[in-house]
Amino acid sequence: MTAALMERTGLDDGRLTTLVHAFYGKIRKDAVLGPIFDERIADWEPHLARMVEFWSSVALMTGRYHGAPVPKHVGLPVDWSHFERWLALFRETAHETCTPEGAAHVIERAERIARSLNIAVTDAAEAAANPHAVPRLG
Ligand code: HEM
Repeated sequence: MTAALMERTGLDDGRLTTLVHAFYGKIRKDAVLGPIFDERIADWEPHLARMVEFWSSVALMTGRYHGAPVPKHVGLPVDWSHFERWLALFRETAHETCTPEGAAHVIERAERIARSLNIAVTDAAEAAANPHAVPRLG
């Protein structure tokens, strides 16, 4: 499975490491997103290593990532406009660092995960603001 994905997308550990480092280089310089990350990440090396494992799991099904992203994002001061900005930088970096097939592969997955993280963040904020409301379905 991993070998077939690598073959089809041109992605491997080296390429994903380049993508992750270039992407967070841009994130840290971004006027809106940079401060949100810098306030929470004191040591970037472990974060970058974790993100390479995450992308290796998501893009190449290697099972190397064992974390839980949702709780890390719930409570962040973000709405969909922040995710759109995150995705714009991610798409740009993916095209700069990956083959066209590799870029399309990681972008499709990033878009899907961004939408689900945004739902989790929004639902948690609504639940905190209105604790007795019936949760929204779907
Ligand atoms: C508005 C956009 C986003 C912001 C501001 C944001 C911010 C952050 C921050 C501050 C952390 C570190 C949390 C901590 O260690 O306490 C983090 C971790 C992480 N983020 Fe995001 N993020 C965003 C979007 C995304 C998206 C779209 C993805 C996936 C495609 C993603 C995947 C992850 C993962 C996997 C971690 C590591 C979680 C762990 O510790 O295992 N993030 N993010």
